[in-house]
Amino acid sequence: MRLSFLAPVLALLPAFVTAQYDVPSAPFKLVVLSDSSTLNGTVLYSCHEGASIEGLCTGGTSNPAYSTYTHNTSSNAGEVNETLGASGYLIWVLPGGTFNESETLTLNVNPISNVALPLFWPSIEDSTSVAFDSNGLLNIQGYFDDRVVPIVGSTSYVAYYRWYVCTTYYQGYTYQTLAWALGEFPPENPTCQAVSVKQVFL
Ligand SMILES: *[C@@H]1O[C@H](CO)[C@@H](O)[C@H](O)[C@H]1NC(C)=O
Ligand SMILES: *[C@@H]1O[C@H](CO)[C@@H](O)[C@H](O)[C@H]1NC(C)=O
Ligand SMILES: *[C@@H]1O[C@H](CO)[C@@H](O)[C@H](O)[C@H]1NC(C)=O
Ligand SMILES: *[C@@H]1O[C@H](CO)[C@@H](O)[C@H](O)[C@H]1NC(C)=O
Repeated sequence: MRLSFLAPVLALLPAFVTAQYDVPSAPFKLVVLSDSSTLNGTVLYSCHEGASIEGLCTGGTSNPAYSTYTHNTSSNAGEVNETLGASGYLIWVLPGGTFNESETLTLNVNPISNVALPLFWPSIEDSTSVAFDSNGLLNIQGYFDDRVVPIVGSTSYVAYYRWYVCTTYYQGYTYQTLAWALGEFPPENPTCQAVSVKQVFL
């Protein structure tokens, strides 16, 4: 097996890099925490951004199916730092009437912007792993920092909380949605307001 030369490298990485996310959580909603009194407490919901593509919008929905999510983590993640939380897929089930379609969150990157759009997508191939920390706050974890020279990977993860609510545009749809700033700088979209996203079990 030619890939065996990779084994020492893979052994250094926390296990969930290659893990299957097979353990579903209880259902929850996603609540925005913000210094802005108009945004604080807003419940995010899945809003149409294309065929079987949804963003996370503010503004509310009367159908609880559109604001109910689950989080699949791994049964063989190895040691998880419970302070940061276990990484896994954020899942929304699209109620199609005659079918239910499980969709996972993927950060959609626009190469000319530092603002990425979290979207639910039917394919899990490019899904972004996310976690909820011990305070229930949504984060994305990384094990190396490209601002540091020389660049090195670490065996432990750092949690990042680069969430914003912004007016975003995706394939003809303009909404106020959750967004993610790529890298350490503030989002270039002037409508963005910093927020946290809290997991609140139903
Ligand atoms: C979540 O876990 C359940 C139970 O193992 C599994 O049936 C489902 O396919 C998983 N969903 C995703 C998107 O991985
Ligand atoms: C936002 O809402 C939370 C929970 O309701 C509350 O604890 C917090 O004080 C509020 N923050 C602001 C800035 O209003
Ligand atoms: C978990 O992560 C926190 C925050 O980065 C860190 O302070 C703590 O030492 C970590 N715990 C373990 C057991 O690695
Ligand atoms: C979709 O899921 C809902 C909620 O679990 C369930 O009531 C409904 O029967 C499902 N529909 C189909 C077509 O499987």
